[in-house]
Amino acid sequence: MSWIREGELTILERFCANIIKAGPMPKHVAFIMDGNRRYAQKCHVERQQGHSQGFDKLAQTLRWCLNLGIREVTVYAFSIENFKRSKEEVDGLMDLARQKFSRLLEEQCFLNVCFAYTSRHEISNAVREMAWGVEQGLLEPSDVSESLLDKCLYTNNSPDPDLLIRTSGEVRLSDFLLWQTSHSCLVFQSVLWPEYSFWNLCEAILRFQMNYNALQKARDSYMEERRRQQMERDQAYVTKKLQQEGFASHGDSWRRRTLLQKCTAMREERIQGFLQALEHKRADFFERLCTVSA
Ligand code: FPP
Ligand code: MG
Repeated sequence: MSWIREGELTILERFCANIIKAGPMPKHVAFIMDGNRRYAQKCHVERQQGHSQGFDKLAQTLRWCLNLGIREVTVYAFSIENFKRSKEEVDGLMDLARQKFSRLLEEQCFLNVCFAYTSRHEISNAVREMAWGVEQGLLEPSDVSESLLDKCLYTNNSPDPDLLIRTSGEVRLSDFLLWQTSHSCLVFQSVLWPEYSFWNLCEAILRFQMNYNALQKARDSYMEERRRQQMERDQAYVTKKLQQEGFASHGDSWRRRTLLQKCTAMREERIQGFLQALEHKRADFFERLCTVSA
């Protein structure tokens, strides 16, 4: 029997889900599932038991998300920092991951698991990839932009999360999706992760809905500003080209427009070529990694 699909909502939960679904819904929700060890301590059980129940809570939360029509979920399962925990705990978490994640991922394609992850590592890796692109002659230095960095992140195939939830009362992001959550609704809840309930999730979604207009406005104006900056960079590039060709910087407007269109098309072409090369480079890396660990 499926792990996620088994178990439906109660009548009351379904009723409330329908009310909530009448408002704007987050399409992508990210979770920092915190508080497993405090839960274990509170219940006088082994630490590993706390993590195991935390995992079961993840399966249950995914089911609620499906019922609420949330199509994508990203979880912080293991930070690079977590390697500093005792060997016993790290081994226990790895065992749990081996046993349970493969089964969970078989069932669902809407779950992104961030494992041995930190956001600063992801961002600096993306910067290094762009520097590599310039070094290889695939990119011009002026192609480097926020929008290109977006495309170099591990999350490039996903929209940014609309809502990020952290449990256990900690009010910080702990190096999770720092770049991707600049326009997300951040909700910090005091409940320990293994005790997370459908009602906690509803409360977080209500908070998202209350802030929806402001978030949308901020996101739109950011995208507008990004387009304006790109246009400014393209104009500066064209001015430089015209000057190099001996034309006055304003040039004639037809020539300027044609050159601008050409430059934009060439930039797009360079970026596509770079992204393809990057995909191959990453595929090679994973292939080598699998060969080494096999
Ligand atoms: C935070 O609680 C939780 C983790 C470090 C692991 C989170 C992962 C899951 C719940 C899912 C299962 C994960 C794996 C890897 C199979 P904590 O340990 O920081 O607890 P505390 O905040 O009470 O100390
Ligand atoms: Mg913690």
